[in-house]
Amino acid sequence: MISVIGSGRVGATTAAFLMMNEVDNNIAIVDIIEGLPQGEALDLNHAAAIMGKDVKVAGSNSYEAIKGSDIVIITAGLARKPGMTREELAAKNAQIVFDVADKVKQYAPNSIVIITTNPLDVMVAVLYKRLGFPRNRVIGFSGVLDSRRMAYYASQYLNISPSAITPLVLGQHGENMYPVPELSFVYGKSLKSFLTDEQYNKVVKDTINAGADITNLRKFSSNWGPGAGLTVMAEAIKRDRKIALEASVLLDGEYGIKGYFAEVPIIIGKNGVEKIIEVDLSSEQKEKLMKSIDAIKNNLKQVPEEYIR
Ligand code: APR
Repeated sequence: MISVIGSGRVGATTAAFLMMNEVDNNIAIVDIIEGLPQGEALDLNHAAAIMGKDVKVAGSNSYEAIKGSDIVIITAGLARKPGMTREELAAKNAQIVFDVADKVKQYAPNSIVIITTNPLDVMVAVLYKRLGFPRNRVIGFSGVLDSRRMAYYASQYLNISPSAITPLVLGQHGENMYPVPELSFVYGKSLKSFLTDEQYNKVVKDTINAGADITNLRKFSSNWGPGAGLTVMAEAIKRDRKIALEASVLLDGEYGIKGYFAEVPIIIGKNGVEKIIEVDLSSEQKEKLMKSIDAIKNNLKQVPEEYIR
């Protein structure tokens, strides 16, 4: 069974993609708003009946519904309201993640947990601390989103499929992420060699601003990309695909970083994080990554100490 916590835009989209791809025959969705997860589940069951998918979706306000899940996807959280500081938002979402972690521990103690709640770098650290699960079973979403967004933008200049590109984005999920087109490849050929300087800069800028651009255009944040990325990750775990993609994982010396979650390439399979791929970086590239890690360290200051230490 796969559970999705939070049936807002990201949660509902994820449940729909999971159903359409028949990643699991049982999907549970939980939200605190009465009627919302039940309504989404009913609608999704109708969609499954129409599409001929053998999937049952159950919606509930009770966390008991996630009992025995192999995979739990946490999308619960609040969006920033006008006048609310980043710190206030982070503290509120940290409390939500804290509470959800307790329920996951109680009802799905052997699950692999993926989280999308923002600020991502902070929330995945809060989740890890509270769950006490080994690091291969606690995964921050967004690397697959940031890196594939870069592949998309670059592909527009190359006139090739985004899937022909192995894209690399390192570090923070947010404005301090470090996209690295020079270490992104089409077979052995660096993406940078296909792009003019102007195109290169635009690809980097568009990748960093992708989420904000969507929000500015339609006035609410991204859900299709996150839903797609979460589905690819859940499918890789469920079917033990051992594919390479990016995610925010706890580093323990890899890239010279210890004790912080950051976006890096991983191999994902039935154990969650099967391997962390350590790409060789030049000293200049290492410096840029460390700047991104500094941003993560600063973000962690947004929540009270007890949440992360
Ligand atoms: N348990 C379960 N659900 C909760 C809880 C909780 N403790 N607290 C809040 N929620 C639910 C809300 O009721 C809401 O339905 O989480 C849902 C969040 O949905 P949206 O507001 O639509 O937000 P969404 O766009 O889905 O984004 C969710 O993912 O990408 C990130 O920045 C984004 O942090 C945000 C999260």
